[in-house]
Amino acid sequence: MDYRPVLEQIHATVQPLLDQGRVASYIPELAAVPLRQFGMAIVTLDGRVHSVGDAQVAFSIQSISKLFALVLALQAEGDALWQRVGREPSGTPFNSLVQLESEAGKPRNPFINAGALVVTDILCSRYAVPENVVSESLQKLSGNPTLHYDARVARSERAHSDRNAAMAHFAKSFGNLRNPVDAVLDAYCRHCAITMNCEDLARAVLFLANRGVNPRNGERVLSASLSKRLSALMLTCGTYDAAGDFAFRVGLPAKSGVGGGIVAVIPDTCGICVWSPGLDESGNSHAGSLALEMLTTLTGRSIF
Ligand code: DON
Repeated sequence: MDYRPVLEQIHATVQPLLDQGRVASYIPELAAVPLRQFGMAIVTLDGRVHSVGDAQVAFSIQSISKLFALVLALQAEGDALWQRVGREPSGTPFNSLVQLESEAGKPRNPFINAGALVVTDILCSRYAVPENVVSESLQKLSGNPTLHYDARVARSERAHSDRNAAMAHFAKSFGNLRNPVDAVLDAYCRHCAITMNCEDLARAVLFLANRGVNPRNGERVLSASLSKRLSALMLTCGTYDAAGDFAFRVGLPAKSGVGGGIVAVIPDTCGICVWSPGLDESGNSHAGSLALEMLTTLTGRSIF
């Protein structure tokens, strides 16, 4: 399939939309990102890269890191992980605290902040230097040994982490956090602050399109079953409280972040990443969501 004309059509169509969203403003580093940027990359299983626009510009991956933190936790714990984190859409904003109380400190899913904090706690129990495991894993998955977290963004996240701290303490009060809250927050803020570009992220999710095996080097990242489960969670919970609408419009497993990135996969075909920093009211990239919707419409490929 020749993705070039499709990507060019998408790039042209989104141009008038780039002013419409709003950049995340909870930390100054994200608030300062210029709005009018758009990049998209598709990497097929044979390693070919098709990209357009700002696909090589690094951005803050934010909650996309929750996907890769979960991969590491699943590698370590397998299905035992679901004793501590649920797998249902929350129907509440990603930073909501309310369900934690009535549901005994067990977060609804690993992609809301409370769930990602419990996942990060697992990494803190399993790894000697938990702050760096997600970026190291992403270096391997993408084949880019230079990628790293942005120390300024991580510091700023940490300085604005009262709400996440509240969730972590709450989970701990129910026994669902085993490490000191500060250590969990340090590791969490660092993986949210990883910067990557669309091409590297599209490569990093390729194993999910290939039944758990990284096609670049043949390494198994997850079993085929866990890979399927992770993709299912992306479909049902990966785009915040808009996952239903996103599945309706796009029809692909995806995970978004408030930096404006969205990763997605077409099973047995490719990894995809789109980035545009303007967010819609649900916190997903406005132009990025439309771009993915156009991609599945124009190519006729989705999981349905
Ligand atoms: O912890 C936070 O709220 C941000 N560092 C990440 C937010 C984000 O991308 C949304 N998550 N689901």
